Amino acid sequence: MSQYPALRLRRTRASAWSRRMHAETVLTPADLIWPLFIAEGEGVEEPIASLPGVSRWSVDGIVARAKEARDLGIPCVALFPNTQADRRSEGGEEALNPDNLMCRAIRALKDAVPEVGVLTDVALDPYTSHGHDGLLDEGGYVLNDETAEVLVGQALNQAAAGADIIAPSDMMDGRVGLIRDALEAEGHVNVQIMSYAAKYASGFYGPFRDAVGSRGLLKGDKKTYQMDSANAEEALREVALDLEEGADSVMVKPGLPYLDIILRVKSEFQVPVFAYQVSGEYAMIEAAVAAGAAERDAVVLETLMAFKRAGCSGVLTYHALHAAKLLAK
Ligand code: PBG
Repeated sequence: MSQYPALRLRRTRASAWSRRMHAETVLTPADLIWPLFIAEGEGVEEPIASLPGVSRWSVDGIVARAKEARDLGIPCVALFPNTQADRRSEGGEEALNPDNLMCRAIRALKDAVPEVGVLTDVALDPYTSHGHDGLLDEGGYVLNDETAEVLVGQALNQAAAGADIIAPSDMMDGRVGLIRDALEAEGHVNVQIMSYAAKYASGFYGPFRDAVGSRGLLKGDKKTYQMDSANAEEALREVALDLEEGADSVMVKPGLPYLDIILRVKSEFQVPVFAYQVSGEYAMIEAAVAAGAAERDAVVLETLMAFKRAGCSGVLTYHALHAAKLLAK
C-alpha cells in the first residue's frame, strides 16, 4: 500500500463527478417505503401535530398519495389506520372486519394504483381500547398464543383485501409461522411476509401513537413483548426464528439508533433487511430543522444513505416523498 504523498485519499473527492464515480453506496427512490395514516371520511386531511408535515388522509387521499409515490418511483406504501373510537374494543375485533378502514384502503389502492406495493401492519394496537398490540389477561399482561391466533385472522383479512406484504409488528412469538401457514392454506402463496423481527420497546414511537390514536389509550409500556434496547444477540435470535418460520424479509426498528443491529443482521444472514426510520426519528429531524440546527435536505439524504451503507435493502420513512423528490433532481 502506498503512502502519503503518493497516496492522497482527497484526490478522488476533489470533484463532484469523481465523488459520484467512487460512491460505494447508492440511494434511489426504489429504496423507499412510504408509511401513510388513514382517516375515516372523504376529502379529509388531518395534520398530526407531533409529526409536522405528515397528515392522516381519507381513502381518496391515500390513493392520491400512492399515485405521487408511483410517479416518483417509490415502490411501496405502508398503511396504518386511525380506527374510530367506537370501533375499538378490548379484543380489537375490528381488525377482523373485512370492511374496516384498512381493508377499504387496500382495495382502493389495488384498484386505482395496482403497480404500487401495499404493505400492511399486523398488530392490534390501532383496534384495541387499551392501545396494546394484543389481548390482555386480567393482570394486563399481553397474551402470546391467544393474540397470535387473532393476528392470523387479521393477516388473512388484509391478504383477502389485496395486501402484497404482511408486516407483523406485534412481537408475539411464533406468529410468522402461523401466518405463513394460513396464507398458504388460503392460496395467498405470493403474499410476502416482512417481519418486524427486531423491534425494540422504544421511546421513539410517540408521534406514531398520536397518528393512530393509541397514545392516550395506552396503559403502561410494551416492554413485555418488544425488545430491550440493551440486547443485540437477542435480535439475531429473533431474526433467525422469523426466517425459519418463513419471513421473506426482516425489519429492524427503530432505525438510526440501531444501525449496529442492521449491520449484524445483514452480515449474519445475508437476507433482505429493512429499517423503519420511526416517527420519533422523523420528528427529531424536523425539530432540528425548525430550530435552525440542521438543513433538512442534507440530513434526510444522509440518514437514508446510512441505512443503505449499513446493509439495508430499503427504509420505511416519513420523508419518503421528500427524499424521492430530492433524488429526482
Ligand atoms: C404498531 C406499530 C408501532 C409502530 C409501527 N407499528 C408502534 C408501537 O409499537 O407502539 C411505530 C412506528 C413509528 O413510530 O413510526 N405495533
